[in-house]
Amino acid sequence: MHNNKICRNKFKNRPMKISLKIFFLLAITFFAGCFYDSEERLYPSISGPCDDTVVTFSGTVTTILQVCLTCHSNSAASSSGNGIKLQDYNDIMIIVNNGRLIGAVNHLNGFVPMPDGGGKLPDCEIAQLQKWIDNGSLNN
Ligand code: HEC
Repeated sequence: MHNNKICRNKFKNRPMKISLKIFFLLAITFFAGCFYDSEERLYPSISGPCDDTVVTFSGTVTTILQVCLTCHSNSAASSSGNGIKLQDYNDIMIIVNNGRLIGAVNHLNGFVPMPDGGGKLPDCEIAQLQKWIDNGSLNN
């Protein structure tokens, strides 16, 4: 009689231990999930929505094109950027006017995708370049 009771308790405790383990696994999964939320979605005010209301050559375009200068600066070997220069307004206007800038950064068919070997520029930066062109690509 006494032995029987111990035996029953032993079995009764098992499912409890297993469900505790499952609970902790779920809890860990849940909290780990929080670390993969994007900052932008959690705190939209930090980075903000894409602002393309005021887009200038000196303020916006040259900043975006900074990442291109490793290969397309005036001092870069012409082999590194196929002779295309993206440092001065007049040089940039060449690829604006022939449509290569927008084709390349949008990775459109028929263009060499830019930045070469890197990921696409952020959508907002592409939208800002487009806006600057739509506004007449001024040297402002
Ligand atoms: C790692 C070097 C590198 C970087 C960074 C780079 N380019 Fe290029 N770019 C090249 C090379 C090399 C070519 C010539 C590719 C070819 O003709 O095969 C090229 C060609 C181009 C062309 C002509 C594309 C065509 O289809 O004719 C444009 C426009 C261009 N780059 C714009 C950019 C812009 C804008 C950026 C930055 C957002 C950029 N590149 C960043 C190396 C680079």
